[in-house]
Amino acid sequence: MADHRDSRPELESSHENGSLSLSLAPEQHALDLEPLTSDQSRTHFTRRTFLSGIGATGLLAGTAPLAAAAPVLDPAAAETTDANSVNITLRINGREVTLRNLDPRATLLDTLRERLDLTGTKKGCDHGQCGACTVHVNGRRVNSCLSFAVMHEGDEITTIEGVGQPGKLHPMQAAFVQHDGYQCGYCTSGQIMSAVALLQEPIGSSDEDIRSAMAGNICRCGAYTNIVAAVRQVRTQA
Ligand code: FES
Ligand code: FES
Repeated sequence: MADHRDSRPELESSHENGSLSLSLAPEQHALDLEPLTSDQSRTHFTRRTFLSGIGATGLLAGTAPLAAAAPVLDPAAAETTDANSVNITLRINGREVTLRNLDPRATLLDTLRERLDLTGTKKGCDHGQCGACTVHVNGRRVNSCLSFAVMHEGDEITTIEGVGQPGKLHPMQAAFVQHDGYQCGYCTSGQIMSAVALLQEPIGSSDEDIRSAMAGNICRCGAYTNIVAAVRQVRTQA
């Protein structure tokens, strides 16, 4: 069996001015990793600046990926013929999108993320247990990881990208921002999709009713109190 201990990166350490610094051995620069400059290392990242970049795909996902991708999203796939594949047309965020050579076993979640680049919809458990993948199908919330894409021809599918945009947020998105209804942001698009659908559902008016109706959306960061506050505010205004 190969001994991987020899291939571990070797770090040289030094203690200067009471601080520990680590540096790669010369041969380990083969990866062309640029060392951080002192300015970069001092860059101040906060949770908000992070969410406004990478994490914002969940909260404020844009529509550009779909616009760029439609109608034939993967030219290579169009040339690949598989006897078991199917061609389907879906209606997503108000636009018709044709998908060629789709594996009929592809879930709606994987199709949105991997064929349409609509990555605002998140994959958490992939087993229908966390709600991160929540989208709307004909106005009702659905766990897209539990649904095959081929089942949805003719349906009206809405993802977080179709709910609101930076500069034109849905009131629920604005309320999540106002009430800090997220920490890492990974569950947030699913939370918002559920919360928006909930506005049309016959549930009671109490916070306990909101918690019960949102029980299918798990937040590992435990931002539940602020999520309920955001939903409560929008329901009150509606
Ligand atoms: S990813 Fe679909 S419910 Fe968790
Ligand atoms: S904000 Fe991190 S999982 Fe909900």
